[in-house]
Amino acid sequence: MGTLTKYTIKNVHGRRVWDSRGRPTVEVDVTLRYGAMGRAIAPAGESTGSGEAVERRDGGKNFGGYDVQGALAAINTEIHIALKGKDVRDQEEIDRLLRELDGTANKSRLGGNALIATSMAVLHAAAAAEKIPLWQYLGPLLGHSDGSVLPLPEIQILGGGAHAAGRVDIQDFMVIPVGASSFSEALNWTAEVYRAARNLLSDTGRLYGVADEGGFWPAFKSNEEGLDVLICAIEKSGRTPGQDIAISLDIAASVFGSKRRYKLARDNQEMDSDGLCGLLVDWVERYPIVSVEDPLGEDDLDGLIRFTWAVGKRVQVVGDDFFVTNADRLNAAVKMSACNAILVNPNQAGTLSETKAAFDASQKAGYGAIISARSGETEDATIVHLGVGWGVNQLKVGSFSRSERMVKWNEGLRIAESLHETSGGILPLDGNLPPRNAFPWN
Ligand code: PGA
Ligand code: ZN
Repeated sequence: MGTLTKYTIKNVHGRRVWDSRGRPTVEVDVTLRYGAMGRAIAPAGESTGSGEAVERRDGGKNFGGYDVQGALAAINTEIHIALKGKDVRDQEEIDRLLRELDGTANKSRLGGNALIATSMAVLHAAAAAEKIPLWQYLGPLLGHSDGSVLPLPEIQILGGGAHAAGRVDIQDFMVIPVGASSFSEALNWTAEVYRAARNLLSDTGRLYGVADEGGFWPAFKSNEEGLDVLICAIEKSGRTPGQDIAISLDIAASVFGSKRRYKLARDNQEMDSDGLCGLLVDWVERYPIVSVEDPLGEDDLDGLIRFTWAVGKRVQVVGDDFFVTNADRLNAAVKMSACNAILVNPNQAGTLSETKAAFDASQKAGYGAIISARSGETEDATIVHLGVGWGVNQLKVGSFSRSERMVKWNEGLRIAESLHETSGGILPLDGNLPPRNAFPWN
């Protein structure tokens, strides 16, 4: 063991805590030699991509098979032993160690949940040792010199798909306050839209409650009704659709389709890849939509290429389940012009270094990037710090209710305040997004 410093790992401890769906999840404390401590919690997806780092769950009867005692045992024995004495500033080296210790391609032995919570806790410990906030620690360290920008929020208003028992097929009906001039203004506008949507739905008997990410769980007769409600809510909030606030969709098409066949239960339609592609292009033409995530299934490469070809010049086409935050997948897709933006999800990659590699690959390719939470979340706000520190220019954490969501928006506000966010504090729209006046309905 080398010299002991304030950066030397003394202890790695995992414990079971609970996520926003009431399921067990993994929390890790990394304690350093002179007392600094970093803590992080693994989130969990529901509409997961098949190429994601695999969570380690115990199976069996306890808590529906979701318990994480195996992952915790791995942290408290193998991972603790491997990391003890290491310098927390060597994030890449630590992440490499974790990968090698796991030894599988999909991180299933120790568990992607054990690995990402450890990897993030290591980073938190490094910032704690320096006594500075995480975003600030990341800025200079990772070469993003201008840390003074806040990402543009993408906020869910209506929740569907796997997060609302398929009540509406499309998973996320979201808004992006493209005309806001600061992070806090973007949230002010969002609060009004969220309130307007609630009133609109409850006044018309279409409100069931909220879905997993806090968006309203609607009783709709068709998927398109969701788009009309968004437009109406934006207008009722006093904003102009498209100009102030645009629409963004996460289709999460892998949930209702595979092998290029799609079944939209709400619209009572079964369609092939061209059919779904055509439906979405039609929506893009008729509504102020600036971003579409996973428009086709993760196995429908042809469809993704075709959709990107059709609308990619004016709309952000985001790969989530398709990329699973993997640099190799991103690089392969770039060659084929499939999608033009990536959803960056640390727990899909399994370590922070791999997450950063996927983000870096997107920037090199000129792709857009959105750092994102999962549908199963906690009070952990690490991704907000990663977004600011790395310079990821969009942030998606779910809706505008439920504390596991609000903790992240609120953390963004605190960071904005400490940066004395200026008028230029919010990043300009991604190059892939259309200029505001490009919409025919304006
Ligand atoms: P998930 O949903 O966390 O259930 O995968 C989020 C998303 O699809 O973007
Ligand atoms: Zn998604």
